[in-house]
Amino acid sequence: MLEAAGVSLDLAGTEAFLGRDRLEALAPRVAEAARSLAHGTCAGHEFLGWLDLPSRIGEPEFVACDAAAARARADAQAVVVVGIGGSYLGARAVLDALPPAPGVGVPLLFAGTGLCSASLDGVLRAVADRDFRVCVISKSGTTVEPAVAFRVLRGLLRQRYGDKGAAARITAVTDARRGALRQLADAEGWETFVVPDDVGGRFSVLTPVGLVPLAMAGVDVRGLVAGARAMQSACAGEGLFDNPAHLYAAARYALCEQGFTTEVLSSFHSGLKTLQEWWKQLFGESEGKQGRGIYPASAVFTTDLHSLGQYLQEGRRNLQETFLCARSAVPGLVVPADPGADADGLGYLAGRPFDEINWTAFEATRQAHIQGGVPCQAIGVDQVTPHTVGALIYMFEKAIGIGGLLLGLNPFDQPGVEAYKLEMFRRLGRPA
Ligand code: PA5
Repeated sequence: MLEAAGVSLDLAGTEAFLGRDRLEALAPRVAEAARSLAHGTCAGHEFLGWLDLPSRIGEPEFVACDAAAARARADAQAVVVVGIGGSYLGARAVLDALPPAPGVGVPLLFAGTGLCSASLDGVLRAVADRDFRVCVISKSGTTVEPAVAFRVLRGLLRQRYGDKGAAARITAVTDARRGALRQLADAEGWETFVVPDDVGGRFSVLTPVGLVPLAMAGVDVRGLVAGARAMQSACAGEGLFDNPAHLYAAARYALCEQGFTTEVLSSFHSGLKTLQEWWKQLFGESEGKQGRGIYPASAVFTTDLHSLGQYLQEGRRNLQETFLCARSAVPGLVVPADPGADADGLGYLAGRPFDEINWTAFEATRQAHIQGGVPCQAIGVDQVTPHTVGALIYMFEKAIGIGGLLLGLNPFDQPGVEAYKLEMFRRLGRPA
């Protein structure tokens, strides 16, 4: 078991499938990949701004976030965050993992995360009788989903607050100089924050892309960054067995080489569900190219043990599993005694905390899956806190940087996402 920055990594569940010698053999390649990241010589080196980002974020950045949050608290009962993919998932993942207490910040709503009219309509209904602001996040400013949702929301702001009032209620997080949204924001005088050029969308949660909406929502962004910083320092060396990001990356890569080509990130904590979605984007876009990569899937237990559980136990044996565990969620909640006749036969659980039962379910599931032929890693935290979430974010970012390089890929581009867009635009009649 390796522990760093409040996060543990346990490879015991892979031992029947993956010998230490195989991992040791990978150590020089991992060290080489780490060196190429540190020296900026790897493929995609122009997008390595995330690598030392936590240690570069200072008080001025936090103060700017605080000021935006104070403005939101002053005149809004909701902030509609408009963005998609890397310009959305990170903030949503952290918010769902760390929901602020009621009244601490301004509730966030999310728009532009797809093209479904029902979803946008739901947001419009939610702000129908509430004062709101818009935080539009797009590096390019031309991504169709957020851009069309923003047109609708900006129109509503103007209708309700007038041109000047609307302009005072828009925050744009976008490129420093280029891009359609930057031009519009400058022309209209909106409050703006910059998405750094050298940080790709899926690595951008610790830039203003994530920090600004999270601060508005009342999330402890200082704690989040402090956790990421602690993990940055724990993952800075070139070693394998003392570096959680490297060890996780090497184990999943070695398992993939043995035919375990799908990785299921499983959690027993419902608040981590969107973090699992963020992980899927981070890993899927970084590794899924040139016919290679591990397919990233997810499951939320014990709910999904009653649906996907059968497949995980006995389906095609190309699965490796990584458990994302939190030891406790709401420690005080216990199963009550049944004053009646114990009709469900569960009286033996009376007085036991839900967290203890959930942890037992995790241990039992891991053992069953290993016996069923699924190699299992476990990444654990004691509690889901700003510090541990920040540490997990950095650990996953570093791991996928290493993982993509082990596969011989550029982990920082996403050329494949253009294919459907070209066809969609052709069908929609976009002028040439
Ligand atoms: O990871 C990525 O690069 C993508 O998911 C983008 O973040 C997403 O397509 C949104 O792009 P933009 O911020 O330019 O609107």
